[in-house]
Amino acid sequence: MSEYLPGLEGVPATKSNISHIDGERGVLAYRGYPIESLAEHSTFEETSLLLLDGRLPTARELAEFDEQLRGNRRVKYNIREMMKSLPPTGHPMEMLQTAVASLGMFYPGPEGLTGRDIREDLDYVHSMTVKILARMATLVAMWEHIRNGYDPVPPRTDLTYAENFLYMLSGKEPEAFYADIMDTCLVLHAEHTINASTFAALVAGSTLAAPNGVIAAAIGTLSGPLHGGANQRVVEMLEDIGSPDNARPWVEKQLAAKAKIWGMGHREYKVKDPRAVILEKLVEKLAAYKGGQVSPLFETALAVEEICRERLAHKGVYPNVDFYSGVLYAEMGIPADQFTSIFAISRCAGWLAHWREQLADNRIFRPTQVYTGEGIRDYVPLRDRG
Ligand code: COA
Repeated sequence: MSEYLPGLEGVPATKSNISHIDGERGVLAYRGYPIESLAEHSTFEETSLLLLDGRLPTARELAEFDEQLRGNRRVKYNIREMMKSLPPTGHPMEMLQTAVASLGMFYPGPEGLTGRDIREDLDYVHSMTVKILARMATLVAMWEHIRNGYDPVPPRTDLTYAENFLYMLSGKEPEAFYADIMDTCLVLHAEHTINASTFAALVAGSTLAAPNGVIAAAIGTLSGPLHGGANQRVVEMLEDIGSPDNARPWVEKQLAAKAKIWGMGHREYKVKDPRAVILEKLVEKLAAYKGGQVSPLFETALAVEEICRERLAHKGVYPNVDFYSGVLYAEMGIPADQFTSIFAISRCAGWLAHWREQLADNRIFRPTQVYTGEGIRDYVPLRDRG
């Protein structure tokens, strides 16, 4: 029997050519392109197509994909009514999972996916890829209004993905500076090899489940605080710490209690996550844009990072992607419980790319287990039990 490795650490679960991490050197690349160069030069639309198709698109291919996304932003009236009936106190990630799961009922596919590269499958896969990716931002923004008792702001087709998301979220056309920051955040979060939510998508996809079920499984998995849910926890933690001066006793107390410092540590990276490096610079850029004023959250985050470097670097524990993204979103006025939903909007591109890759060479996931229970024994009737 093969060795049992908790958390499947180091166990290859699939073959993939979508992205690559070098955790010792802090390298992340999508389809061979380093994350730093995509963050600087690409857009979320282009990065999504790169992830899906494996190569940088031509101008015509990108324009066509962009047009499809723009044309698919609207959400059916029935889904909107369904969202209105959900409790406004519910977490946005639970709403998102519910809404995405329901999408498939409105767009039934062929009899079922065959798991082979046949025309019927490919057309359905592409059309659902566009529908889901385009609607993710709409659903997240809609919920912000619906849960506060307002009508959602309908999407616009004349804005980019990031612009339109911020527009729908706030009801105001965003300044180009903020739209650029959001676009970069979407690029940074779009893909990250076989993380927990992508693995969940692969497992669901391997059963030939419909894509809405695949993405709903991934959204549920992303919501946990050990994964995407950490970005919300980070900001709550920084607010709890309150100021840089409190950072040391707070961190020491957490470590003494063997508790987590949110936004720190990663299974793959043994150095600072390259996305955290970029996000930290974005917070600095935002501070400069706002007239040089650094927010208390950012100052506290810097202090926590410094102390964690002293205390946790020997374990290879450094800031991950969630450490500075929350600070950035909070500075942009976005509510903390929406941070993970923004992560989901973006990561949806990676999930869909992996789903397509899985379907192209599918075999159902069916691992084994190490059984630790009782041997075969006789059933005891209820009357004879002590
Ligand atoms: N705070 C304090 N200590 C941490 C830590 C953190 N955030 N992350 C890891 N460590 C420590 C562990 O306590 C462990 O120490 P030990 O060897 O003395 O027992 C060591 O580092 C290895 O951690 P482990 O939990 O085995 O790593 P993992 O690969 O199983 O888990 C994470 C990875 C991401 C789940 C983990 O680092 C974590 O929970 N981080 C906080 C949540 C978070 O930010 N998640 C977002 C990830 S992008």
